[in-house]
Amino acid sequence: MTTIAVIPGDGIGPEVVEQAMVVLDRLGIGLKFDVLDHVNATSYLRDGSTLETADMDRVRSGAGILLGAIGDPRVRSVDYAREILLRLRFELDLYVNYRPARLLHDRLSPLRDPARRAIDCVLVRENTEGLYVDVGGTVREGTDHETAIDAEVSTYFGVSRVIGFALRAARHGVCMVDKANAVRNSGELWQRCWRDLGEAHPELVKTHLYVDVAAMRLVEDPASFEVIVTNNSYGDILSDLAAQVAGGLGAAASANINPESGAGLYEPVHGSAPDIAGTGTANPFGAILSGAMLLDQLGRTDEANAVRGAVDRAVAARRCTVDLGGQLGTADAGRAVVSEL
Ligand code: NAI
Ligand code: MG
Repeated sequence: MTTIAVIPGDGIGPEVVEQAMVVLDRLGIGLKFDVLDHVNATSYLRDGSTLETADMDRVRSGAGILLGAIGDPRVRSVDYAREILLRLRFELDLYVNYRPARLLHDRLSPLRDPARRAIDCVLVRENTEGLYVDVGGTVREGTDHETAIDAEVSTYFGVSRVIGFALRAARHGVCMVDKANAVRNSGELWQRCWRDLGEAHPELVKTHLYVDVAAMRLVEDPASFEVIVTNNSYGDILSDLAAQVAGGLGAAASANINPESGAGLYEPVHGSAPDIAGTGTANPFGAILSGAMLLDQLGRTDEANAVRGAVDRAVAARRCTVDLGGQLGTADAGRAVVSEL
């Protein structure tokens, strides 16, 4: 038996993760789920608990983690999500956030020109540094001179390992995205790491774009990208953009991984969607496709491809949720994938 730690989380998290577990279970490959259903906003509001040390032990002992979403409008403090999501990313050193964007079906593309719709790229987002490290503070709080500072931290170690991963992951080309024309210090570091590591990959087409142009190009000519590597915050934003160009946030999957240790956390790109939580309408395909990425990690490539194929067929047949042009609810969309397997 292979144990998967599951953190359903908040809002639509438990609804979509349930369907991912149904699909994975259906493969009959001996997966066992250790569900941490107490890690959510309700527990936090009751007694302040988040991800405790015992939970971390359970998470570490599994072969991978499947997560729904963390975030609840009743919780005002950013500490809640940080203590769960960022604790997992930082303590397990999941420095690669791997976010594929592949057009699910032609009708889902928001682009007018059919020749430009075929996005099939991977966004590799640095996941442990950048703007999200919580370095900074606020001075003169409550006055007209209040000043808030969030420092963006980039290290040679951190930048070179994620760029190295992206270069190894590509077959044809990698595009490095930064804002070196305005953000001087990190910009210089990213540029230097890019040059240093790129030399070892003469077989690849290496391009560079500033983040504003990259956003424009992702809409204008998304099919021109294969692998994009960028920092934490640009990657956060560009991956939602790429997901929408690929057919919608609800079907976007992601993996937070440490390629050296093999630790991995798999989650849909979307959040807890409080606006539709409890309505049974959430799209479970992002969670199901995240489960497929977990299968890749377990070496179950055939099964992972089978799940992806089943999702493709369900979408093509409109056996999917409203956001993908179907009429099914969450559970029926999950069942559609199972029946396509
Ligand atoms: P969101 O991704 O939850 O929702 C954005 C929009 O997309 C909403 O209109 C929502 O209804 C729709 N949507 C999202 N997932 C969908 C699905 N599976 N099916 C159909 N429609 C879907 O982003 P938002 O509203 O900014 O954040 C809500 C909460 O989620 C916040 O507390 C935020 O911090 C948290 N969040 C958590 C993440 C995580 O756990 N990794 C990632 C992003 C947000
Ligand atoms: Mg995001």
